[in-house]
Amino acid sequence: MRARELDTRVRRLEDDPPIPLDSVDLMVRNPEPLRHRFEEIFTYIAAVERAVTRNVADITALLPDLGERDTRFLAAWSAHELAHADIFDALRGQLGLGPPPGGPDQTGPDRTGRARLSFRLFGVCSTNRWLHDVFTLIYLSRGAMHEHMTFDCYRHLGAQLTALGEDALVRTATDPIRRQEASHLGYYRLAAATHRRRLSPAQVRLARRVTVLTYEPVGAGECGRGPAGRVFTGLAGDDMDQVLDAVEAVAAELLGDGDRPLPHFVHAAMDGCLRLPGGPRPLEPTGARWP
Ligand SMILES: [Fe+2]
Ligand SMILES: [Fe+2]
Repeated sequence: MRARELDTRVRRLEDDPPIPLDSVDLMVRNPEPLRHRFEEIFTYIAAVERAVTRNVADITALLPDLGERDTRFLAAWSAHELAHADIFDALRGQLGLGPPPGGPDQTGPDRTGRARLSFRLFGVCSTNRWLHDVFTLIYLSRGAMHEHMTFDCYRHLGAQLTALGEDALVRTATDPIRRQEASHLGYYRLAAATHRRRLSPAQVRLARRVTVLTYEPVGAGECGRGPAGRVFTGLAGDDMDQVLDAVEAVAAELLGDGDRPLPHFVHAAMDGCLRLPGGPRPLEPTGARWP
C-alpha cells in the first residue's frame, strides 16, 4: 500500500517539470530594497539549490544499493532544485549583483559533482546491509527535515517580497518553488516512515544518534555556519523558533522512540551558527506579517 503510494508520488514528481526560467517574471518593481536586503540570502539560496549535484554524488556514494524508486526520485528532485538555482542566479543577475562567491560561473563552493571523502568512506561501510539500512533512514529523515525548513523559508521569503510589492516574483517564482519543496518533503517523509518499519530498534537508535550529533541547518555545509545563521534569521525573523520546532517535530516523527523526546538539537545547531563572530545583523522591518 505504502509502496504504491510512494510510486505514485515519484511519478507525480517526474510529471512535474522543472520550473522554466522563462516562466519567471524577473522584472522587479523596485530593485534597490531587494539588492540591499537580499543579496546574501539570494546567493545562499542559489548555492544550496545548486549543491544538489554534489548531494546526489554523496548519496550515491553512501548508498550504493539505493532502490530504483529512490534513484528516480533523486533524478526528478535534482532537476527541480537546479531549476530553483537557475532562478536565483538569474534574479541576482537582474539585480546587478556581483558574481557569486567561488567564481563568475558558479554559486557555491563546489559544483563538481564529486562525492565528499566522508561519504565515500561511509559508503565502504554500506556494503554491510545492516548499516546500509541505517544510513538510508538517516538520509531520508535528513531530507525531510531539510525540505521542511526550505519550504518554511520560501514561505517567509514570499511574505517579505509581497510586503515589498514584488507580487509577480512571488507568483511566478517563490510560490511554484514552494509547491515543489512541499512535494519533496512529502516523498522524503513517507519514504523515511516506510523504510523505518523494516528496521530494528537498534538501527533506529543509531540513526537517531547520528542525526542528533551531525545535524546542520540546510546549506550550512555548503555556505558556512555564519551565513546560515544570518540567512535564516533574515528569512524567519521572529518566527525562527517555530521554524526550528517544526524541523524537530519531523525528526521526532521519523526517528523518535515514542517515549523520550529528542534533545533540541536543531535549535542547538542554529544557536551555534548564530553565536559565530559576525553573526546576524539586524534587518529592517518590511511590514510583513508572517503567515
Ligand atoms: Fe529547491
Ligand atoms: Fe526541495
